[in-house]
Formats: sequence, structure tokens, C-alpha cells
Amino acid sequence: MEQSWAALVPILGDGVVRLRAHTEADLTGLTSMCQDPEMARWTTVPQPYAPSDARYYFDEVIAPGWLHNNQWSWALEAELDGEPRFAGNIDLRLDGLGGAEVGFATHPDARGLGLMTRALRLVADHALTQGLTVVRWRALVGNWGSRKIAMRCGFHFEGTLRRLLPQRGELQDAWVASLLASDDRTPRDWPKQVTLAGTTSGGEAIVLREFTLRDAPRIVEAANDPTTAHFLPLPRPYGAAEAEEYLNLAAEKWAAGTSAVWCISTPDGQALGSIELMLLDSPASRREVGYWLHPDARGRGVATTAVRILTDHAFRAGLAHSILLQAAATNEASLAIAQRNAFRSLGVWPDALVLDDGTRTDLVMYAATLRDWCADAGRPVSPES
Ligand SMILES: CC(C)(COP(=O)(O)OP(=O)(O)OC[C@H]1O[C@@H](n2cnc3c(N)ncnc32)[C@H](O)[C@@H]1OP(=O)(O)O)[C@@H](O)C(=O)NCCC(=O)NCCS
Repeated sequence: MEQSWAALVPILGDGVVRLRAHTEADLTGLTSMCQDPEMARWTTVPQPYAPSDARYYFDEVIAPGWLHNNQWSWALEAELDGEPRFAGNIDLRLDGLGGAEVGFATHPDARGLGLMTRALRLVADHALTQGLTVVRWRALVGNWGSRKIAMRCGFHFEGTLRRLLPQRGELQDAWVASLLASDDRTPRDWPKQVTLAGTTSGGEAIVLREFTLRDAPRIVEAANDPTTAHFLPLPRPYGAAEAEEYLNLAAEKWAAGTSAVWCISTPDGQALGSIELMLLDSPASRREVGYWLHPDARGRGVATTAVRILTDHAFRAGLAHSILLQAAATNEASLAIAQRNAFRSLGVWPDALVLDDGTRTDLVMYAATLRDWCADAGRPVSPES
């Protein structure tokens, strides 16, 4: 059986990864890969996964796929610890009309090395030069590793479809992207999130870093604080699911290039709050800054310092020319943050904010400009890391 179908498999390679026909020797690696919790979370591989499942996949899916020309599966091989080793799977499921859907998985021992990005690039190039007109990618919402790979290979993000993919007995929301034969396949890099650091006037070191799921409990606590809830329109009740949604939305905005969200944190990783540079896609480099703090981080200059660090970074990195800051007229603490950072007062937008009790209040508007910021020679400079 192996001889007959393996000869149909074109070998693809770029000098780092080699895509080839699976062999019996891959069954052990296939089994341990499918036993990894990430596989259970993001794919529909059987759970628990036994060696017999890999055997079935080899005999009943991979081999017939090539023989019937409806699924092209490759083993991903790469040099690991000096040896060429099985490092994952990639396949194309053909629809018979010129379209195909891609599926892939990297062995846990080989992740984070850029191997699947290379593999998908090779497979997409192969498919589109073999006459297929479209390659589609779908992933459960939240699978950022997979989405990065698709975007880096030039796939066009089409959006989120609710309840699209079956997963462990229920339908889940999924992302969809596609690559047409006519698309520009120039690799697009994923925006990098710089970590920033600075010190409050009281000498406390703070860091602006990427949020992670580990920050969710602190987000939940902050969102359930009455002062936060008074000024920010938040879902009620606010629990772990809402915090995860907040983090997914932050990553989504980052990926779309519309907004950059940082976690304000202690150097040892405790989340103190959030700060966001919004309107990154606005013309004339005009942006807006927004922030909130966990109640136990208030009253010691953390938000003032975070606004200074971010404003400084935005101007120095060429991300902004003018930054707006809006605060409720009744939010003394937030107004003080704008004033301490010498944001220029622009005036009041009357009745522009609805508070959690349903009443309206004015928004006070401030701005910092690149010109003013650079002219202020006495301004402390926050180093980037
Ligand atoms: C998703 C998966 C295929 C990535 O494989 P890989 O070989 O590590 O991929 P690459 O190294 O080419 O690129 C992955 C990128 O995503 C990043 N990444 C991985 N997990 C991430 C996460 N949870 N959040 C954000 N980025 C993530 C990696 O750090 C890397 O980016 P970097 O180069 O900027 O560091 C692998 O994690 C896997 O097999 N997961 C389980 C199966 C799966 O999800 N398959 C896809 C189903 S649609």
C-alpha cells in the first residue's frame, strides 16, 4: 500500500523544512503530537489519542487521500537536535472545484521555530501553481499561533463566523482566511509588541507588556470594582469569559492594526492595569490614549507614569503626531493624569458620557502633540526595552 501512494507525494522543501510522504516510522511522533493538550484544544483529533488512532489516520485518511486525489497530506520533517525528524503534519482537503482547505499541526517539540510558517508557504505555493484557485484556512477563535502563520503566508483575513466549527460536541466561533491564486503572496509580518518600562515619581518600576491569559483574574477584579464600573461601559456580570473576550478583542485590534493594548505590570508580572493607543489606522497620525487600573494599583502614580511612557514611545517611534485623552469631568483622578503629563486642555464635550447609573456627564478633552513633547526639554525620557 505504502509504495503505491507514497510515489504520488511531491517532495517540497526550502532547505529548512522538507515535506514528504508519511512513513510507518512517523506513527510514534504522530501519536505523541496528537496527545498534546493544544491538539485537543484547537483540533478535532480523537481524545484520548491512542497509537491505533494514528494507525487508522495513516491507513484510512492519508493513503486514500492521495489515491483518490481528494486530500494531500505531507509529513513535515526538519532537523531537530542535529537529526532529521518528524515535526508535524500539513494537509489540503480538496473540494473538487479548485478549492482546498488547509490543516496543520506542529509536534510540541518543534513549535515556535517558524517551521509551520515555512510549510504552509510551500504548500500554498504548490497548490496554487498546480491549478487550485483558492486555499482556505479556518481556525477556532483564539488560535493566535495558527492565525499568525496564515497571515504571514499572505492569507487574507475574512472575519469571524459564529458557531462555524464543531468542536468536542458543540459548535464554536471560527476565523476564516483565504489565499487566491491571483493574490500578492509577499510575506507580511505580524506587528511586534514592544515591552516598555519606566519608574513612577515614587521610585516604583513599571512595565508595559503584552497581556496573557494569566492576567484574566486581575482583569475580572478590576472590572468588578465600583469605580471602574462607574466610568467604563462594561458587561455585567463580568467574569472569566468576559476577561477572555477582552483579551481576544485586544489581540484582534492589534492584529488588525487599529489599536495597541499593553498590560501595565510590575516587573515580576503582576497586572496593574491596561493602557491602549487607539485609532492607529486614523489619518494624520492622530491617536487616542485610554487606560484603567486595578483598584490596588491606584494612588501612587502608576497610570500617570504609564501615560508618560506610552506617549513618549508613540512620539519617538513615529506612531503618533497628536494624542487625544478624554476623561469624565467627574473623574478627578483621570483629569490629574492628563494634567500631570502636561496634556493641553482642549475643552469640554458636554453630556458625552453615560455613567453606569444612567446619568450623563461631560468629557474633558486633552491632547499632547509631538511638537510640544519634543519642545519640553525637561521631560524625563523613558527607556525602551
Ligand atoms: C499552531 C501551531 C501549528 C504553530 O506551529 P509552529 O511551528 O510553532 O508555528 P511557527 O513557529 O511557524 O509560528 C507560530 C507563531 O505563532 C506564535 N504563537 C504560538 N502560540 C501563540 C499564542 N497562543 N498567541 C500568540 N502567538 C502564538 C509563535 O510564537 C510564532 O510567532 P513568532 O514567530 O512571532 O514567535 C502549533 O502550535 C500547533 O500545532 N498547535 C496545535 C494544532 C493547531 O492549532 N493547528 C492549527 C489548527 S487551525
